[in-house]
Amino acid sequence: MVRLRRILGGVAAALTVAAMGAVVQTSPAAAADGPQRVVGGTRATQGEFPFMVRLSMGCGGALYSPTIVLTAAHCVNGTGTNTSITATLGVVDLNSSSRITRRSNYVYRAPGYNGNGKDWALIRLSSPVTGLATLPIATTSAYDTGTFTIAGWGAAREGGAQQRYLLKATVPFVSDATCNSSSMYNGEIIPTDEICAGYTQGGVDTCQGDSGGPMFRRDANNAWIQVGIVSWGDGCARPNKPGVYSQVSYFSSAIQSAASSLGG
Ligand code: ARG
Repeated sequence: MVRLRRILGGVAAALTVAAMGAVVQTSPAAAADGPQRVVGGTRATQGEFPFMVRLSMGCGGALYSPTIVLTAAHCVNGTGTNTSITATLGVVDLNSSSRITRRSNYVYRAPGYNGNGKDWALIRLSSPVTGLATLPIATTSAYDTGTFTIAGWGAAREGGAQQRYLLKATVPFVSDATCNSSSMYNGEIIPTDEICAGYTQGGVDTCQGDSGGPMFRRDANNAWIQVGIVSWGDGCARPNKPGVYSQVSYFSSAIQSAASSLGG
């Protein structure tokens, strides 16, 4: 059932307009804030997460290097030349006249991706983006715990619309054992490939259209480091259904090699 939901989530994202981590929360306090604010998340400020990327198929991404965006495998169709994707960068407001856009020229999807784990891909941009900080990836499991930041332009509630303004939230790590327990995903999590995050009571989460975007935290030098890629979940922000993210540290060598082979 969850695997099916994963596939449906990807299709939903492709049919909608937005990309990165919309944050969902359903607490009464947040709802009382009204339409100016996405339920559950709050607006990111301009420049707060300079590495955030919105992709035209309705996904998010993170700027890995001046020419490469790290996203989810389920956001792309396969490996090869691809000039059909537009990346929007450098703004929290997707309609801002200050936005930077780049066309893709190549897509690399994780080898062996079949909808079950391995949910990462690289998109090469037609020309480098300068002036925006990139987001380094975690290369060890040292940061695969703690409190994570999620951000994106995806739905602000399950079934909701894509967002014009980037939203953000924080979610706590959930262990593989807890995430795979019978009250949660009952064995559907691939412990090596995937990392869960969210509240047992629900209320804060990524959602459709956030796929491919980063989950990140501060490293020992207080710099942002990417630990996850938005992948899937059962609905959004439901109790006992944390968000499921690709575990970047596990794929870091493969990501680095692939990025080098793409020239950046
Ligand atoms: N697969 C979704 C997408 O395409 C992301 C779902 C994330 N869901 C969640 N509950 N965290 O955008």
